[in-house]
Parts: sequence; C-alpha cells; structure tokens
Amino acid sequence: MRIAVVGSGYVGLVTGACFADLGHEVVLVDNDEKKLEALRTGKVPIHERFLPELLERHGGGRIKFSGDLQAATRASEAIFIAVGTPPTESGDADMSYVESVAREISGAVESYKVVVEKSTVPVYTNQWIQTIIMRNGTEPEMFDIASNPEFLREGTAVTDFLYPDRIVVGVETERAAEVMRQIYGPLTSGWYYGRADAIPRPDRAQAPPRLIITSAKSAELIKHASNAFLAMKISFINAVASICETVGANVQQVCDGLGTDSRIGPRFLNPGIGYGGSCFPKDLTAFRAVAKESGYDFRLLEEVIRINEEQRHRFLRKVRSVLWTLRGKKLGVLGLAFKGGTDDTRESPALLLVQELLHEGCRVCAYDPAAMERAKEELGSGIEFATDAYEAAKGADAVLILTEWEEFATLDLERLRGAVKYPIVLDGRNLYDPAVMTEHGFSYYSVGRPPALREETHAARASAHNGRP
Ligand code: UDX
Ligand code: UDX
Repeated sequence: MRIAVVGSGYVGLVTGACFADLGHEVVLVDNDEKKLEALRTGKVPIHERFLPELLERHGGGRIKFSGDLQAATRASEAIFIAVGTPPTESGDADMSYVESVAREISGAVESYKVVVEKSTVPVYTNQWIQTIIMRNGTEPEMFDIASNPEFLREGTAVTDFLYPDRIVVGVETERAAEVMRQIYGPLTSGWYYGRADAIPRPDRAQAPPRLIITSAKSAELIKHASNAFLAMKISFINAVASICETVGANVQQVCDGLGTDSRIGPRFLNPGIGYGGSCFPKDLTAFRAVAKESGYDFRLLEEVIRINEEQRHRFLRKVRSVLWTLRGKKLGVLGLAFKGGTDDTRESPALLLVQELLHEGCRVCAYDPAAMERAKEELGSGIEFATDAYEAAKGADAVLILTEWEEFATLDLERLRGAVKYPIVLDGRNLYDPAVMTEHGFSYYSVGRPPALREETHAARASAHNGRP
C-alpha cells in the first residue's frame, strides 16, 4: 500500500519506519523543515532501539520525507495522522494540529482515501475529522475515517509496533476495514515473522497479533482507557508502597504476592517516584476532561493523578529525612529521562525532582545515558552534567537513582563506594536488593521497603523509619 504518515515524532517516525518494513511505500510528512533535513541525511532524532536500522534499510527507498502534505495525500491510499495532541491549559487535548492537518488533507482528496487517527485523541475526534474534511469540500464517498490507536512504549516502540498484543481498528464502513486489513496483513497473516530480516521477536510476544475491528468511538476509548488503567495500576502500587513504609512491610514481597494472581499480573507493578512521559499525564487529564464533557465525573482519575504527584513529594521528604538540611548538599543524580531506555524528558519525574532539589539549594551533578541534551534545554546551567554514574557520584553527600536505566541496576558498587563522600543511596526505582547495598557499605533507602543501614542496628533501623536521625 502507499501510506502517508503526518508527524515525524516519536509515534509517526516509528509508525512510518515499521510500515516500510512491512513492505509498504511510505511518505513521512512533517512541518518542521529542520527535522526533515536531519532525517533525509540519516540522522535519527529520537532514541529508539532498531529505529536507526529501519531508517537505514528503507531511507530513500520505501521511505520518503516530505513537507508537502497535499502531494503526500494525493500519492497515498491511507493517511495516518500522528501529530502532537499536547495538553492545553485546562488539561484537555489540544486538537488544533489534528484539525489543521485534516483541513489540509481535504484539499487534496482526488481518489478514495482512508484518513487514520494514530495520535491519541479524545472520543468523537473521528466525527470531527469527518466534519472538517466534508466542510472543506470533500464528498463523503471519497473518504472514510479510521481510528488506529498506538500502544507504543518509548524505548521499545519498534518491537511494540511489530509484535503488538493486539491491533485495534475503529471504522464505520467495510471499505475502510478492508484497507486497514491490507495494511496490517503482513503482521496478522504472520508473513512478516517468517522473514529472515524481521526485527527480533521480544520474549513475551504472541505473534501473529489479533486485529480487533470496533466502532471508531470504541477504538478511541480503548486507547484512553488502556493508558488510564496502566497509570492507575502504577498509582495503586505506589499507594501500597506508602502503606508498606508506614507499617514496615516490604512492597517487593507484596508485589510478588499480588502479581502471581493471573488476574492482576506482575507487570506495571513497579513502585517508584511515579509515572511521567508524554502520554500518561496528558492522556489522564484528557480522558478526565472528555468524560466530564460527556457527563461522567471520572473522579477516580483525579486520585490516580494525586497519588502520582504525592509519590514525588514523598521521595523529596525522604531525601530531607536522610540528609537533614539540603542547602549546599551535593547530590549525585542518576537518571533524567522519564523512564529507562529513552531520551525523552517530557513530564519526567526525575527532572521535576531535580528542579525541586535545586529549589532547595542542593548542588546537583547528574548523569543520564541518553537524556542529558534534552535535560540541558529544560534545566539550563542549573546543574552539572557528568559523563558517567561514577563522576556524578564523586564527592556526593548522597546518590539518587531516579530513572530505571538497566545500567543503573548493574553499577560497580565498590567503585561507587570509592567515589561518594558519604555512602548513602536513595533509590527511587528500587533497582537493588537492600542486602547487596549494605554488604557494599551503603545505607540504602528505597520505595516501600525498610531502610537498609550499613551500621545495621535495630535502634538505627527503628528511628530511621520515623525520619529521625
Ligand atoms: C504525538 C502525541 O503527543 C501523542 O499523544 C500521540 O499518541 C501521537 O502523536 P509524539 O509523536 O510524541 O506523539 O508527538 P511529537 O513528538 O510532538 O511529534 C509530533 C510531530 O508532528 C512533530 O515532529 C511535529 O513537527 C509534527 N507536526 C505537528 C506536523 O507535522 N504538523 C503539525 O501541524 C503539528
Ligand atoms: C505508555 C504506555 O505504556 C503505552 O502503551 C502508550 O502507548 C504510551 O504511554 P510510555 O509512556 O512510553 O508508554 O512508557 P511506559 O513504559 O508505559 O512508562 C510510563 C511511565 O510509568 C514511566 O515514567 C515509567 O517509569 C513509569 N512506570 C512504568 C512505573 O513507574 N512503574 C511501572 O511499573 C511501569
């Protein structure tokens, strides 16, 4: 098929590259000429595993980059809209980019097209896109709208696209459904997985995936409901972790007991400093807003958001309870991205915490394997940046682990011990076994588990629990 993907961001770029790997002809459209130039010269603007390989394999071949949306529309059978839907001041999704793209598409529909919502959009968007395209002069029989929400996690977006748990397509006509079946045919038929050069299958993959055909509204709701449920699961375990701290239980043990219930499952039960990113925070406020507009007061989502905010404040209080005064203290911070495996710092809990620590007068030296460039744009000259974890820890009053990068879970603890001024680690992502940390001479504080103090005495343990020195 000939496909146009509008918006070469985290979602659009991965979508276009994967469609090309399925055998489709793809035009990736963007209105940021600088971004297009970088892409044409083979630069990859985001940190995604396997994306460089796919762009290398198909760039200039099955993948073209263009700033001309109307030409791309004329040349394609399906146009995927993957432009940003950022939150507005009031918290609902800013749909102005989607609307401007829909209007521009309308002026170039000369044969039947399927216009596909790939961006995360509130329910009813499908109808609005249809209205905008018709209002701008396109005959109804010349196009259909489809909703095809993405479930891509940053850092694993390529494998999430090629080995999805399910593909959701919301359509109102059989004609549009047929086009979408053809587009995803290489996956649903299993053909792609038989290819020698297919992107490697991740452990948990169940291939070939199911194609779930729904109404457009149901597909739009599936996306919001999925993200809201996942965020709720994280806030739930974070609330349980806080209860564990007050009663002296161990949230890791509670998670093992919870996750082995097949109805609950072990994934997305990792307590920490909370969720961030360009999706969960935005999608929850958007879902809350669209539910309210539709007459349902979805207050549960407010509580999910509140717990998530509170998680970060609790961690800051924990840092203060361990260090007493913060002003002038030197902190080695490991992690600035909103999660491990990505360079994205949008709504990063790590970055928000660093800003709060700077506000308290701390001196921060931070290291992140991929996100330091983007963090510099947000933080400016407020902090020092290190070239590795040990440099960040050098002379530190304490080391803070804020992002779950694999490399932060496998540090050379002897070397880390030799770098710090005081052997204190506050782990916001529970990457270590407390016993291993005390064996290496650290006092180790984490989320939902008792403090592990190097001079292990019951008195010290009891008092540290109540935040007393
Ligand atoms: C975006 C939404 O934020 C997300 O909710 C949705 O699920 C998918 O699209 P993302 O890819 O992260 O996710 O957005 P972003 O990285 O901001 O990329 C959007 C791209 O669209 C940018 O490259 C921007 O230049 C481009 N764009 C934006 C256009 O080409 N035209 C526009 O009118 C607006
Ligand atoms: C999420 C959804 O998983 C994905 O399906 C959707 O398409 C986009 O939003 P993403 O935001 O990229 O993906 O990352 P994800 O792995 O979901 O992590 C989101 C946040 O939750 C991160 O800040 C992460 O650190 C945090 N998280 C995740 C936890 O705190 N605990 C967990 O158990 C899992």
